[in-house]
Amino acid sequence: MSVWWFITTLAITAFFSSPAYAYDSNPLQDICVAVNDTQASVFVNGKICKDPNLAKADDFFVSGLNVSGSAVPGFGFASKFVNVNNMPGLNSLGISIARAVLEPQGLVPLHTHPRATELMTVLEGTVYSGFLVPDAVSFFKSRLFSKILNPGDVFVFPIGLMHFQYNLGRKKVTMLASYNSQNPGIVTIPSSISTSNPPIISDVLAKGFQLSTTEIAELQKKFS
Ligand SMILES: *[C@@H]1O[C@H](CO)[C@@H](O)[C@H](O)[C@H]1NC(C)=O
Ligand SMILES: *[C@@H]1O[C@H](CO)[C@@H](O)[C@H](O)[C@H]1NC(C)=O
Repeated sequence: MSVWWFITTLAITAFFSSPAYAYDSNPLQDICVAVNDTQASVFVNGKICKDPNLAKADDFFVSGLNVSGSAVPGFGFASKFVNVNNMPGLNSLGISIARAVLEPQGLVPLHTHPRATELMTVLEGTVYSGFLVPDAVSFFKSRLFSKILNPGDVFVFPIGLMHFQYNLGRKKVTMLASYNSQNPGIVTIPSSISTSNPPIISDVLAKGFQLSTTEIAELQKKFS
């Protein structure tokens, strides 16, 4: 085997096994500040970039993560997201952040982020948090990976997996979460199942949860 053949093979192997494939897709230019056009009739995977000469510092800046957003009634948690929708400079950068506050016994119900892994840091309080990993053998089962977290503790929720955060303590919990997506998305399991529009026919939910249709109707009423 010639030396050149060896080098070429090595180069091709290195290219295809490159670890540079991250969520989201990598930027192909220095900056790609999103155009805030809700009327756009052309859709791309991400947002259209504005002319780089028109970009300004404020496109890359947001303030207000020093306070929590408005609380979700019944759950005792408040969250605030900084993503491409309110910080247009994040477009194509594959990163975003959120702040969440939990009252005592407050819960962020089981949810997933379809496009991001989440790295959560506890700033104050005590939180019980976990994620579910599908069982390799039976798709009816899962493994729970959970921890009780205190200030300074960091926990990671792998992309797409269901997770929750619950305040076990007597004081409020404040957390910061970063995501490897400019737009991680969120699917809140209990409410999105119960209050879809239009509703899923109740036989599907009754059989799925092994409950009666009366119990399902009660569940739907609670979330409506
Ligand atoms: C949070 O930050 C904003 C903007 O910088 C500021 O106006 C506000 O007073 C701050 N609030 C608190 C409670 O620190
Ligand atoms: C984008 O436009 C909408 C609607 O005009 C507005 O509510 C929102 O604040 C804008 N977002 C940014 C980041 O400018």
